[in-house]
Amino acid sequence: MVITDTFTSGYNKGLLRQAMGSKFKKVGVFTSGGDAPGMNACIRAVTRSGIHNGLQIVGIYGGYNGLIDADFTALDSHEVGNIIRFGGTILRTARSQRFQTSDGMAQAYEALRKEGIEAVVAIGGDGTFRGANEFTNKYEIPFIGIPATIDNDMYGTDFTIGYDTAINTVVQAVDKIRDTAEAHNRLFIVEVMGRDAGFIALRSGIAVGAEAVLVPETDTHIDSLLALLERGWKRKKTGCVVIVAEGDAAGGAFDVADRVKKEFDHFDVRVSVLGHQQRGGAPTCMDRVLATRLGVGAIEGLLQGRSQVMVGVINNEVRYTEFNKSTKHYKELSEDLLYLVEVLG
Ligand code: F6P
Repeated sequence: MVITDTFTSGYNKGLLRQAMGSKFKKVGVFTSGGDAPGMNACIRAVTRSGIHNGLQIVGIYGGYNGLIDADFTALDSHEVGNIIRFGGTILRTARSQRFQTSDGMAQAYEALRKEGIEAVVAIGGDGTFRGANEFTNKYEIPFIGIPATIDNDMYGTDFTIGYDTAINTVVQAVDKIRDTAEAHNRLFIVEVMGRDAGFIALRSGIAVGAEAVLVPETDTHIDSLLALLERGWKRKKTGCVVIVAEGDAAGGAFDVADRVKKEFDHFDVRVSVLGHQQRGGAPTCMDRVLATRLGVGAIEGLLQGRSQVMVGVINNEVRYTEFNKSTKHYKELSEDLLYLVEVLG
């Protein structure tokens, strides 16, 4: 799908500092939703680029809960030193239920007002921006989102922060699983994260040479999977790996394994659920650079007077997409990548 109505940006390299600096002085930043490797790199970029532009940066702990509870800390350049290489988030994160209520939002606005925070940068995923959109429809405060989720399921950016690290974690794990699968001539059904989206499954599946990849975005036919395994068996394949996204309609890896075991008993079947290791670890170079570009892009966007937008990277350019579009549109899996699995599996 082609993304329209986005605005391009070239970094202004501090030129807006004098022109816009007087508009607001204090900017809050928080991380929200599932953590993603690269969130720390992003906090660092927001902080240092804010300071570079003459702003004060306030860290908000624990996502929207920290906004409601006024759990704030001043961030300076030194404080964010060396965090670029760490997974997790120094500001901690949460999926806040309280912020979904009118009372929660009113308390959050009051806390921002009291602290003198005049603009906010939210680092998170779809749920984070839905909350931000609702909040900014009610209360007038500049708000910019930065996409960070291992799922890569955000419209308005080619890649989200954390996705590259997660798929590399999957590749490392599955390469090891492949060794033992071949040694024992076993079929491994490997479950990867992706509640509603198959981006992790698809790209990592290609990279590990998976025999099949099951994703929520396409129909899963167990019969076709069985036929494919049968063909592999006849060609004397030693060991097979099938990658299943946790949100696939066929169920998780255990469900798929049960169906396969019932009707195909040539292979000894094993299941491996990779789970939360996909969310941790040192961010890759790609994620560190992406997080840095988007962090700086968020501050520059605010200085340019933008609000209610998510900053992303499209065709390697920093772009801004309205919250309305980033949360309501659906990012599609690449047909080309799906075709590769079909041809090579
Ligand atoms: O952040 C995205 C994600 O990792 C999904 O892939 C997964 O389904 C979900 O979060 C797990 O969430 P939690 O850690 O809250 O169980």
